[in-house]
Amino acid sequence: MPPSLRLASEAPTAPLPVTVGRIADFADDPVVCMRRLWVRHGDIAALQEDAQRVYFVFGPQFNKQVLSDSQRFHARFFTVRGPRHSAQRRLTSGLLSMNGDEHKRHRRIVMQPFSKAAISEYHDAVTTLAAEMLDSWRPGETRDINVDMTDYMLRLTSCILFGFDEQDLAHRVGVLTDRWVALNHSIGPAAFIPDADLTYRYDELLAAAEELETALKDMLRLRRGNCAGQDVLSLLLRAHDDAGGVSDDELLGHVALLFGAAHLTSAHTLTWTLFLLAQHPQVMEALHLELSDVTGGAPPRLEQIDRLDVLDRVLKESMRVLPASCYSQRITAEPVVLGPFSLPRGAPVVFSQFITHHLPELYPQPESFLPDRWRTLNPAPYAYLPFGGGPRMCLGGPLATLQFKITLPSILGRFKLTAEPHAEINARVMSTMLFPTSRVPLQIDRQDGEFHAAPVTGNIHTLVNLPPATTPVATLARRAA
Ligand code: HEM
Repeated sequence: MPPSLRLASEAPTAPLPVTVGRIADFADDPVVCMRRLWVRHGDIAALQEDAQRVYFVFGPQFNKQVLSDSQRFHARFFTVRGPRHSAQRRLTSGLLSMNGDEHKRHRRIVMQPFSKAAISEYHDAVTTLAAEMLDSWRPGETRDINVDMTDYMLRLTSCILFGFDEQDLAHRVGVLTDRWVALNHSIGPAAFIPDADLTYRYDELLAAAEELETALKDMLRLRRGNCAGQDVLSLLLRAHDDAGGVSDDELLGHVALLFGAAHLTSAHTLTWTLFLLAQHPQVMEALHLELSDVTGGAPPRLEQIDRLDVLDRVLKESMRVLPASCYSQRITAEPVVLGPFSLPRGAPVVFSQFITHHLPELYPQPESFLPDRWRTLNPAPYAYLPFGGGPRMCLGGPLATLQFKITLPSILGRFKLTAEPHAEINARVMSTMLFPTSRVPLQIDRQDGEFHAAPVTGNIHTLVNLPPATTPVATLARRAA
């Protein structure tokens, strides 16, 4: 039975929708744990171990209550903040650790480099770096597309945040940020577990934070000497000079968060989208025709992007069915009534893009990748949250979307991608993100407009319905006829 179907035999028997179990189960496999809670309890539930409860909201109404009320539901950095005066404490002082007026004031400043006008300046950087990556691809080879997308997004994020002129230092900052983010993610879920041993890899995390901070300070010093550029750090420094009130430590915290928030979420979204396209030849065919018509197979110019309707639907559907960011949490700042629960101050509340995006009452056939549903679908903001919602909604969403809408046509204009037959594709939510946990091998061929799906194995089949393998679809020949 598809996991999204409610089991009548499991109707709640307790007065409150509470499952007594191990909170570590949530950290071990968030999707499996949250699916069980939803099947058993519906749109709101709690997981209880001894005296500790974690609350979960899955339906749009509860999402709205939690996400729109930033006064009662505070954000909290997802991992340990480190000792006072440590680099870890300073680097985790970005927007995710701020609430109330402080968050509003800083968000206004941090948002400035992400306005529509500002992000259009990044068009050429995306086109150039995509072309550089593709120049090294050879028809006939099989590539682990997740390795490629992770490396590509590291370069792109470095350039956009720090500029093209300091590529070596920018890349080094990127590599160090990545390691620091990975360590945070490996410690992060322990925050949910009662009596968890947070010292695990703690010293390593503190040392990684020190090293990253030193590199970031070098970058800050360089940019202070010349902040005339269009990179995010220069724009932030100029915004800071106009508005004032942001210390160097806070600036470092913002930049570290921006890098961490942007890099892997974007890399995974590209990976999952390319994989889903490879497995859905008819969608791929429709996209190929659109790209041929609008751009002639070249990377799109800015003014062409809004005409790529199939691409828009493909991305929306990919971020619905396999959202890079699968869940996030809030902490109650005061006692709150949430559905049948009366929450005390300090209670953790989790909302989940993955579960909300798979609710059958919102998205019929929720496990299927059906971009055409977006021809008529217009979900409420809290029913579709790849970039979150409310006052803390992702401020990099428009930039990420622009990057995808240039990168995907750049790849697909030159190459045809087909999954390696019988490849094992596995995915897992680690901390909050949906990672590929095995290779995602795609075969690279010259783009000839003929697409077919190859059979794959792995736990990916528990997350999304993949159609059976197909024989090639001869797009262009059929079109000419
Ligand atoms: C596919 C790519 C991305 C996804 C899926 C994504 C997802 C999200 C989500 C779900 C949130 C809200 C978290 C919450 O409410 O707890 C968020 C917040 C945030 N994102 Fe993104 N993001 C992406 C790309 C980016 C990029 C490119 C940047 C910047 C360069 C960025 C910067 C941020 C920041 C700073 C926040 C915190 C906002 C605040 O607390 O006010 N993200 N992102």
